[in-house]
Amino acid sequence: MVIGDPDRSFRIAAIGGDGIGPEVIGATLPVLATAAALDGVTLDLQHLDWGGELMLKTGRAMPPDGPEQLRDFDAVLFGAVGRPDVPDHELVWGLIIELRQRLGLAVNLRPARSWPGVPGPLRNPDGIDLLIIRENTEGEYTGLGGRTYRRTAREIGVEVAVHSRPTIEQITRFAFERAERRRGKLTLVTKSNAMRFGYTLWDEVVGEVAGSYPGVVFDVKLVDAMAALMVERPAELDVVLCGNLFGDVLSDLASGITGGLGLAPSANVGYDDSVPGVYEPVHGSAPAIAGQGTANPAACLLSAAMLLDDLGADRGARAIREAVGVALADPVSRTPDVGGSATTAAMSASVLSALSAEPLVQQS
Ligand code: NAI
Ligand code: MG
Repeated sequence: MVIGDPDRSFRIAAIGGDGIGPEVIGATLPVLATAAALDGVTLDLQHLDWGGELMLKTGRAMPPDGPEQLRDFDAVLFGAVGRPDVPDHELVWGLIIELRQRLGLAVNLRPARSWPGVPGPLRNPDGIDLLIIRENTEGEYTGLGGRTYRRTAREIGVEVAVHSRPTIEQITRFAFERAERRRGKLTLVTKSNAMRFGYTLWDEVVGEVAGSYPGVVFDVKLVDAMAALMVERPAELDVVLCGNLFGDVLSDLASGITGGLGLAPSANVGYDDSVPGVYEPVHGSAPAIAGQGTANPAACLLSAAMLLDDLGADRGARAIREAVGVALADPVSRTPDVGGSATTAAMSASVLSALSAEPLVQQS
């Protein structure tokens, strides 16, 4: 996260990746540049061809020093990885999870909100405005474990979940600070009735830290109950603090109740300015719709807004959100996943034109 003076220029890396990744990135970059200009910010953009195709060619999804290369940038806009002819776990681990680990991007922010006019599966989809804060480096995603007795009847796979006090404490403080700036409510999600070690540690540590934030209403939910609550009464939720796996799963659910994965943005950030944030739609490479030009670019556009937030380009960030709202409210600019028939390019063009028409843009 970098906050500088006016007339700033930032170095941005764009990693399209696979499937619809390059399509939504292509639809986002012109909007990002136009929005950044509202804050007097220029972007020096570099495309990196990392992802499945590079893996097929070289055996690696990114160069061995990829994370170090990214340290030279102020922020990274990332599409998605995953293609049917490359083992999923190798590609996801070889790129996005490795970046999160090696850059120490410990916080994954995944907001979800209702969009007026966008159809969703809930009877009452109005008033949803929640922020999932997911611990991004530990839990079930540390990569520790193994397989043994391979291809025998007693084959075993062990996946080790690691939860540590300092990591939990740090993300908890971050989450409470966010809750203070939002509606003052934080819900911790664990599963400490069945998992007696890692998630009881979460309960204890978060409970202790909660004492320092008396202005925030704090409660704890088991993840299964949270899944039901998110469908039944999601408007009650503000900040939702989760470990790695539950945050991953619940953020797809949060996007589902608000209109789908095509709308869900995210940011992977560290705790200080020393590493660039990686901003990416929650969705994957959606191979089934890749190449058709119908992917919804909204998730990527909203991720770009989060990128601008962190660069201190507040006006541009707000303008993107408002323009996405304007475009989504018009059935003509909606892509098929949200009940329309517009192409990716048409949705992006609507956002760009709404951006230029924003009252905000006219102000000095
Ligand atoms: P997915 O998110 O790619 O797609 C799930 C469903 O949502 C599909 O029906 C798809 O058509 C729809 N969808 C997703 N994004 C959309 C968009 N922008 N517009 C319209 N519809 C959209 O998840 P899936 O199918 O489980 O995974 C596909 C590949 O992506 C796999 O290889 C997986 O490992 C990878 N993946 C990568 C991620 C990343 O790069 N961070 C995250 C999640 C999955
Ligand atoms: Mg996911």
